[in-house]
Amino acid sequence: MLKMKGERMNKKTIRDIDVNGKKVLVRVDFNVPLSSKDPQDSITVTDDLRIQAALPTLSYLLEHGAALILCSHLGRPKSPADKQYAMGPVATRLSVLLARPVTKLDEVVGDQVTTAVAAMKPGDVILLENTRFAAGETKNDPELSQKLGALADIYVNDAFGSAHRAHASTEGAARAIQSKGGAAVAGFLMEKELNALGTAVSNPPHPYVAIMGGAKISDKIKLIENLLNTADKILIGGGMANTFLKAKGQEVGTSLIEADALPEAKRLLELAGERLILPQDLVVADKFAADAAAKVVPAWGIPAHQMALDVGPDTLEHFNQELQGAQLVVWNGPMGVFEFDRFAEGTNNLAKLLAQLVNMGVQVIIGGGDSAAAVMKAGLADKMTHISTGGGASLELLEGKVLPGIAVLDNK
Ligand code: 3PG
Repeated sequence: MLKMKGERMNKKTIRDIDVNGKKVLVRVDFNVPLSSKDPQDSITVTDDLRIQAALPTLSYLLEHGAALILCSHLGRPKSPADKQYAMGPVATRLSVLLARPVTKLDEVVGDQVTTAVAAMKPGDVILLENTRFAAGETKNDPELSQKLGALADIYVNDAFGSAHRAHASTEGAARAIQSKGGAAVAGFLMEKELNALGTAVSNPPHPYVAIMGGAKISDKIKLIENLLNTADKILIGGGMANTFLKAKGQEVGTSLIEADALPEAKRLLELAGERLILPQDLVVADKFAADAAAKVVPAWGIPAHQMALDVGPDTLEHFNQELQGAQLVVWNGPMGVFEFDRFAEGTNNLAKLLAQLVNMGVQVIIGGGDSAAAVMKAGLADKMTHISTGGGASLELLEGKVLPGIAVLDNK
């Protein structure tokens, strides 16, 4: 169980243990965007936010005399032959950010790794190859977990973005180290994420307003259901609003809807009553394209051959009113097709609105994935209270689920 003490987590962190002279296996989430999918190209990291987010933990461990064996997955490779997912570009970027050499190995476990780890001294940093190149990783294979565990005295999980996965590097290796008497603790990023998102899950200040967007309602049914227990209101935008509008009996033209999810959408509408707030107007176009001609229509009046691609200005104004007085706001999912500038206004204006609320003392937490990307694109990242580095992980945490990568860690 993920238990919170008040708003704080009750898992041990690197502050609670002695790492001096120890070899520490650190699971980080360096699943970062790359410049190319062609292994012949010189691939670089195009967004190093997740690498930067791990630096406080890595620097602390190094300053306190540890030798670091870092591991992460990168993408979803089918096999080690998927060379575009090799960790070389990540090691290069990490070495620059840490301002020290990072030795990138060609295996996850094996003779090369064992030899290199045996020769490590305090201050050394090794980055193992993509954990998903090892066949047993996603199966949480006990043999791979043992081999990973055998490398180190201590296990640290700083990979919040992967904490919802019970894989060998996120869960099994922690158990392997615990079974030989070693500590398995959280890093600072993990602690920060849990303290921010944990507040929303276990002890939110009220009024608490959740804003949900993104294309699919089916991904977020459980989340909305759980939010109805914790949040006072849920504002809905993005593609998922179309399915709700349709479920209310409105015509949505050629807008993307999930027909299979209509019964669930109806059920949630009934359950939520006035607390689920849908768009009042929408930006529509005749095709899904960056150059499509856009116009604003009332949400009840989407023309037959038009599709909704963004929320309109009245919706934003209505959301603004609903947000006044809030103590906590959690936002997950864009309000429209923000990848196309013409349909990014709803998302960008919402980000600006939330930045103003932070100035007024409101806690604003941005779930990871697309909403985090939208806030960065709008240049407002440093204006928010917290931007999660985890997409799926933050959703599952807000759904009230136990995250295996956290559950396994030592309790305080
Ligand atoms: C993420 O990007 O959300 C995490 O790194 C997890 O990646 P995954 O969905 O491939 O497990």
